[in-house]
Amino acid sequence: MVEKINNLLEEIKNLTASSKEEVERLRIQYLSKKGILNDLFNDFKNVPNEEKRAVGQLLNELKNTAQEKINSLKETFENNDLGEQIDLSRSAADFNLGTRHPLSLVKNEIIDIFSRIGFTVAEGPEIEDDWHVFGALNFPPEHPARDMQDTFFIEKNPDILLRTHTSSVQSRVMTSSEPPIRVLCPGRVYRNEAISYRAHCFFHQVEGLYIDKNVSFADLKQALLYFAKEMFGEETQIRLRPSYFPFTEPSAEMDISCNLCGGKGCPFCKHTGWVEILGCGMVDPNVLEECGIDSKVYTGYAFGMGVERIANLKYQCKDLRMFSENDLRFLKQFESAL
Ligand code: DAH
Repeated sequence: MVEKINNLLEEIKNLTASSKEEVERLRIQYLSKKGILNDLFNDFKNVPNEEKRAVGQLLNELKNTAQEKINSLKETFENNDLGEQIDLSRSAADFNLGTRHPLSLVKNEIIDIFSRIGFTVAEGPEIEDDWHVFGALNFPPEHPARDMQDTFFIEKNPDILLRTHTSSVQSRVMTSSEPPIRVLCPGRVYRNEAISYRAHCFFHQVEGLYIDKNVSFADLKQALLYFAKEMFGEETQIRLRPSYFPFTEPSAEMDISCNLCGGKGCPFCKHTGWVEILGCGMVDPNVLEECGIDSKVYTGYAFGMGVERIANLKYQCKDLRMFSENDLRFLKQFESAL
């Protein structure tokens, strides 16, 4: 009996199978009720008592080995089964291509338009110091104009803050390069405002700055007219209204003829026929001097616009928060835009 068991052990260890069905046949042959192992267990009662212990142990070992062998053979075919289920002729699963964010589309369009008249792009940090955001731009300490912009300060240090406008990049460009300067400064800005459908605590601006000899207000007007027509259509008209910014003198705000009603008056333009799109002016000589540029030799103009504002005019989005919520139903509408 012992010899028989040992032979079987050897035999079982070397078992192989080439299909799931063959494994099943082996299982029946060795482990089923009518199988070889069961016969052996039945013969166990004929083993002399003094040998029962040793033979019993061997028999159990044989049973375990057979069980493990059959299981492991089974597993190889189960894994293979998965392989057989892969249909290599099936077309690939769909995957979604990303799309440009509407604000990026508008920002790129603004950059594109101004690059055609010689502007290059300059960027600066979002975490700034007081001097670049206010000091250099003719906002003296305690100047009430600072209240126009609700500033976020970093860790209660009043000198380090999140920039409230991209005009801070003007200060950086003017202190680090010589005129002629002709740059566009796109970027994100932050203001401590309650979030609603018309305001957010962060938004995007594009700043423009042109400094050279003999730059005049007429140059500014011409550049902005060109921009308005390129952006909103050839029929677009512009209107400049006197305004105030600490860093420009004179300063103005620019309206365009309402691109929805063509200037006739509609709810969008509050029946005025005009919508405001940007602030602008001639760079104040104080700013030039503070940034190391000789104001007797050079003059310049600057302008700044909100990207969300322009995007709203182009796409009539009623709620500003849509631009930062990443709702795919909103973003996918811009799939086909350039
Ligand atoms: N920095 C201004 C703001 O955030 C926008 C602005 C107005 C920028 C006039 C300019 C400018 O460069 O000349 O409200």
